[in-house]
Amino acid sequence: MNGQTFVLKGDLCYSIDRYTTAGVPDGWLVCVDGVWEGVFRALPERYAGLPVLDYTGKLVIPGLVDLHVHAPQYTFRGLGLDLELLDWLDQRAFPEEARYADEDYAAAAYRRFVEEMRRGPNSRACVFATRHVPATEELMDQLEASGLITMVGKVNMDRNAPEALRESSAAGSLRDTAAWLEETRGKYRRTRPILTPRFIPSCTDELLSGLGELRRAWELPVQSHLSENRGEVEWVQQLCPWSSCYGDAYDHFGLFGGALGGTIMAHCVLSGEEEIARMKERDVTVAHCPQSNTNLASGIAPVRRYLEEGLSVGLGSDVAGGNHLSILRAMADAIQVSKLRWRLQDESLRPLTIPEAFWMGTLGGGAFFGKVGTFREGYEADAVVLDDSRLAGPREFSITERLERAIYLLEERDVAAKFVAGTRLFG
Ligand code: GUN
Ligand code: FE
Repeated sequence: MNGQTFVLKGDLCYSIDRYTTAGVPDGWLVCVDGVWEGVFRALPERYAGLPVLDYTGKLVIPGLVDLHVHAPQYTFRGLGLDLELLDWLDQRAFPEEARYADEDYAAAAYRRFVEEMRRGPNSRACVFATRHVPATEELMDQLEASGLITMVGKVNMDRNAPEALRESSAAGSLRDTAAWLEETRGKYRRTRPILTPRFIPSCTDELLSGLGELRRAWELPVQSHLSENRGEVEWVQQLCPWSSCYGDAYDHFGLFGGALGGTIMAHCVLSGEEEIARMKERDVTVAHCPQSNTNLASGIAPVRRYLEEGLSVGLGSDVAGGNHLSILRAMADAIQVSKLRWRLQDESLRPLTIPEAFWMGTLGGGAFFGKVGTFREGYEADAVVLDDSRLAGPREFSITERLERAIYLLEERDVAAKFVAGTRLFG
């Protein structure tokens, strides 16, 4: 994808690695054909002729990555959060998703979701749609037009859902999925399909087996849910008595691994030793969704452990289990819940730090999209310009201190400009 060629000027802030955040005041960030050339303290002579976009005084950070979000649930965010997962699905999520059979409703609802995502600090996302092919294609059309870069999944679910939402057979679900893949093949530059079995309780063995075959034939990434809630984990053990752990139930069908574009598993709150070892062996990416895990009282994922094991970890909003789309908010939540976990549950796992949370929301999740999530040479040119002037006090803050406050205090309306793979979306 050829983005544009330009220079950004501002207070630059980005991850060097998991432990280190760099801050460059009045820095120059050069983008050539949608890819960063790097950060410079003075503009090198060879770039002197390029157009300069001057954001002096503003904080410029990499675009944030939402590894797990349900677009159709955006409409009812903030509702029903006194329930736990399985009741919340039955009473809130499934009835709302059934509405997306109506294409007009879907188009109107998705316009709101896409517009908020476009205006906020996230540049990329992995998105669940619903089981409906026309509505999923509508969502993909809208996301493509927004300039965001996304992976979008038509959801597969052929059991344990109300009739209005459940697919009538595994064969029908697979047929619809293949038709969706055919219809969208080569249609988009920024929008890719991702296979999306909802979770094990929603998918028969026959469906999962067929999805494994489709995955190999089309070389597709996969996204789903894993070990989120106690009742859910017990249910999976009953549904798949042959499986040695929840993750094994996906793995058995070739839906749990880093090959073929990777696999994202949301939550992993309750993963045991065997599952953690399997995620590591297969290079599964964990989408940590702290706000959702708090709202639905699912628990707190042992993210420190996952980082120490060297697992790939990023952040997800999980709207509408989570209520905020901004991954700035997910960073703050990840830190806060890790402190409660440390204090109340397991003192061997230290709380997450600001550099770690920032890394997860940028480079950690960005890795699922390739070279994404920092300003180093060769990375795709995603950037968000934050106007933090309303936080300015009588004294000066360093750039990394300003980032820290932005994580806790800034909102969508503070995003002054956004670039995705070198394309300017606004500002
Ligand atoms: N597990 C299966 N479906 C869902 C969903 O829509 N949200 C969450 N948080 N967990 C799920
Ligand atoms: Fe989810």
